[in-house]
Amino acid sequence: MTAHYQVHGDIAVITLDNPPVNGLGLSTRQGIAQGMEQALADAAVVAIVLTGAGKAFSGGADIREFGSPKAMQEPNLNSVIQVLEKSTKPVVAAIHSVAMGGGLELALGCHYRVAAPGASIALPEVKLGLLPGAGGTQRLPRVLGVEPALNMIVSGEAIKSEMLAMLPGQKLFDKISASPATLADEVLAFARSVAAIRPLPLVRNLPCKHPLGDAYFQFARNMVGGMSKNYPAPLKCVDAVEAATKGKFEAGMAKEREIFINLMWTSESRALRHLFLGERAASKIPDVPADTPLRDIKSVAIIGAGTMGGGIAMNFLNAGVPVKMLEMKQEALDRGLATIRGNYEAQVKKGKLKQAKYDERMALLSTTLSYDDLSGTDMVIEAVFEEIGVKEAVFKELDRVMKPGAILASNTSTLDVNKIASFTKRPQDVVGLHFFSPANVMKLLEVVRGEKTAKDVMATVMAVAKKIRKTAVVSGVCDGFIGNRMIEQYGRQGGFLLDEGCTPEQVDKAMEKFGMAMGPFRMGDLAGNDIGWAIRKRRATERANMKYSKTADLLCEKGRFGQKTGAGWYDYKPGKRDAIPNAEVVKMIEDYRAAQGITPRKISDEEIVQRLVFALVNEAAHILEEGIANKASDIDICYIFGYGFPPYRGGPMLYADEVGLFNVVQAMHRFAQNPLDDAEFWKPAPLLAKLAAEGKTFN
Ligand code: NAI
Repeated sequence: MTAHYQVHGDIAVITLDNPPVNGLGLSTRQGIAQGMEQALADAAVVAIVLTGAGKAFSGGADIREFGSPKAMQEPNLNSVIQVLEKSTKPVVAAIHSVAMGGGLELALGCHYRVAAPGASIALPEVKLGLLPGAGGTQRLPRVLGVEPALNMIVSGEAIKSEMLAMLPGQKLFDKISASPATLADEVLAFARSVAAIRPLPLVRNLPCKHPLGDAYFQFARNMVGGMSKNYPAPLKCVDAVEAATKGKFEAGMAKEREIFINLMWTSESRALRHLFLGERAASKIPDVPADTPLRDIKSVAIIGAGTMGGGIAMNFLNAGVPVKMLEMKQEALDRGLATIRGNYEAQVKKGKLKQAKYDERMALLSTTLSYDDLSGTDMVIEAVFEEIGVKEAVFKELDRVMKPGAILASNTSTLDVNKIASFTKRPQDVVGLHFFSPANVMKLLEVVRGEKTAKDVMATVMAVAKKIRKTAVVSGVCDGFIGNRMIEQYGRQGGFLLDEGCTPEQVDKAMEKFGMAMGPFRMGDLAGNDIGWAIRKRRATERANMKYSKTADLLCEKGRFGQKTGAGWYDYKPGKRDAIPNAEVVKMIEDYRAAQGITPRKISDEEIVQRLVFALVNEAAHILEEGIANKASDIDICYIFGYGFPPYRGGPMLYADEVGLFNVVQAMHRFAQNPLDDAEFWKPAPLLAKLAAEGKTFN
């Protein structure tokens, strides 16, 4: 049982004890119900305190039960709350830290609530495409007022207990303790002080009205609808809270239940739940046990203070880790330093960063021109030019100076990490840490595991990623790793679509309508078309038999590298990021088409989306089969956090599952018939073909 029962004099204390956050799994729910039975049967007990062990009162549903029958097995959360409400002795919730989701709903079923200052209070279900399903939408408005409650339910954001306690007329908290440390004693005293009061107060009996009535809800719908397109849950939260103001409590509960069940079945909620679980699963590596001892990383060195080096440095400074940056020339160091300063100063100006914090962070940063100065650091990340010869020179120096056990990481985006490791006498300490640009903003970190990378190095860099607030996905070594290997096929399809009759704008618009943050051509302009050009040149011999549209090369020959040159697939005004279609580029594509003897055809948005997304899916299936990715959800996480794939579609793999792998394969057979496409590529990857034939899914 993951809830314990104790008696302190005349007060019974039921303690939720289901680490890490006292999720309300079946055995915890059973524990609460049993504790209540014991307390009610014991004549010496005059009141009951419900509290949580460890770091939370309760974080809500137990995610390990997500989607399993256990989640609904009796006593379900609503039944447990009814047990509390029907208690003939007062029940007091003691909230020392986190009360979220079902945890807050549980507390709202108690007669009284006492919280410590600083406790995080939230109903975050909307972030999973749901709404609170155990009375949260009916009870929170009754204790906080309709408007503050709706704001919390629609945003899902946590608010500190002492802030909520300041709301006029609030009945959420009966008392805020002097400090977290005094909560336990104060709650016992409070419970004794209310032990004799009858009738017992119930949240469900409180009135619930908004003074503006329907007008307020109309306003709320306009606001919420505008901010939540593609996500049905927030508007449904408005419906549920409105129901709380309209009829009897039970009718509101029924409405909440009905909406909850409908939302459970939406593809958006499936996608968001998949992401939530996928993000947690991504940090687990099958053959690296969770208790692997970590190496101590107290300081970091960064080689190269360019675009990536500077951004990477900021991640560590933000996390309070001292950083030493190395360059070959003082000018380069000065430039790198100025960029970091500029970034922070912009944040200070916008009020997003306090001056004192900025000073603190800059004080952690030092620079050097000498490798010998790095000997004391625990980890080094190389971010120099993407040339194997340059990497070789750097890693030989690192091998010479770094202390034994230091982690040697490379931010290479395409080079062979095994080869880089071979430049050292300690390949077990070498790993790829592929950050995405801008490195201080993008959440994704591809952790590239070399053939010889030690397990404790993997475990350590996963922990480091968490510390610097990145979402890490493990990739094996291959050209492009997970993300860029897939994007090559996506880009290739983009090129064929131009050849066959599309404009860059049409392709981008179709993909943006699908939900991508940016279509492929706008993305190319942002990243720099010259980078892909250089990669294609490097791969020219090994990809000699692979079919490409030549349009991207022609574009680069015109010097149209993208935003940085003010011209790429589109034009850009100085300092602006708006993509303005360019007639010359369209003409360039038309001329190329004519030279190839291609008669353009009208291509539907549906075909554009399917060809681009299924290209990702087919390559991803190869990646999975080769063991480059450990699981399908890792690929989804990679695309959502690194490539702007729409979260409400759950990533390319979940999207393919939703479309149905049989249908995906059928579409690939159709695409293979197109003489202007690449029939060889559209042969479904063996794993995909097998899953489709067996009626299975990736996830
Ligand atoms: P960059 O050209 O902006 O910066 C490279 C820096 O390294 C320059 O400041 C240069 O002075 C310095 N450098 C060159 N050789 C050096 C040496 N031997 N010792 C010390 N410093 C040296 O390049 P960027 O874009 O920052 O790329 C760096 C690495 O990050 C490359 O491996 C690249 O493939 C990778 N990468 C780049 C991404 C991007 O979007 N720019 C994204 C992900 C990875």
